Amino acid sequence: MMSEQIIIEPSLLSADFANLGAAAREAEAADVKAIQIDVMDGQFVPNLCFGPGIVAALRPLVKIKLDIHLMIDEPERYLEEFAQAGADRLIVHQEACTHLHRTLSKIANLGLEVGVTINPGTSIEAIEEVLDLVDIVQIMTVNPGFGGQSFINSQLNKIRRLKEILRQRGRNIPIGVDGGVNAKTAPLAVEAGATMLVAGSSAYNSKLPLAQNLEILYQEIARVNSVKEPANSYA
Ligand code: DX5
Repeated sequence: MMSEQIIIEPSLLSADFANLGAAAREAEAADVKAIQIDVMDGQFVPNLCFGPGIVAALRPLVKIKLDIHLMIDEPERYLEEFAQAGADRLIVHQEACTHLHRTLSKIANLGLEVGVTINPGTSIEAIEEVLDLVDIVQIMTVNPGFGGQSFINSQLNKIRRLKEILRQRGRNIPIGVDGGVNAKTAPLAVEAGATMLVAGSSAYNSKLPLAQNLEILYQEIARVNSVKEPANSYA
């Protein structure tokens, strides 16, 4: 019986851009502990989205963790700005950092939670040298840049391999997945070893309020993985 606490982080990329404050407040009201804010530069990914100003605008509205996914080239240039804006965690792409070890060390020195993420085409070996520096590893289960894409099933084996590597190293840190998470794929990701799921279009959509969408995901995870009491708070 799995006992890890499963955390779902709604992604603002799928929220109503005309009402981001309301979306963040809705997440807090739904007892969400963290939201993921996708930052895109049109260079590292073929889309543009959010910047430090959005983080600064949302910070005073909610107490929940602001988890910033930096899909930008050389994110080292903006670490301080996002820290000052009120970020709680910064997740950088291995592929976007010339000096990944230094960038992750800088995030830690800013007093923020440190995250690294890799794209579907990137192997775990690319981040093995920095696993001791991070508080979370996020596995992209879509090619980054857009919400609403399909989950890339081949990443499930990557999650399993990463979980085993972390176990061997005695690193009890969460594995996150990001992209294409829904009622069908969420249980697969949890079964493979993910304990943090970023949900965009399955969380914020016109069908149901956020809380109900999240409940569906938690119940599906519990049903399929017989996870007792899926909690939506950090361990
Ligand atoms: C994609 C973003 C994801 C996206 C997830 O580049 O990093 O966080 O918002 O959206 P869904 O869950 O719809 O794939």
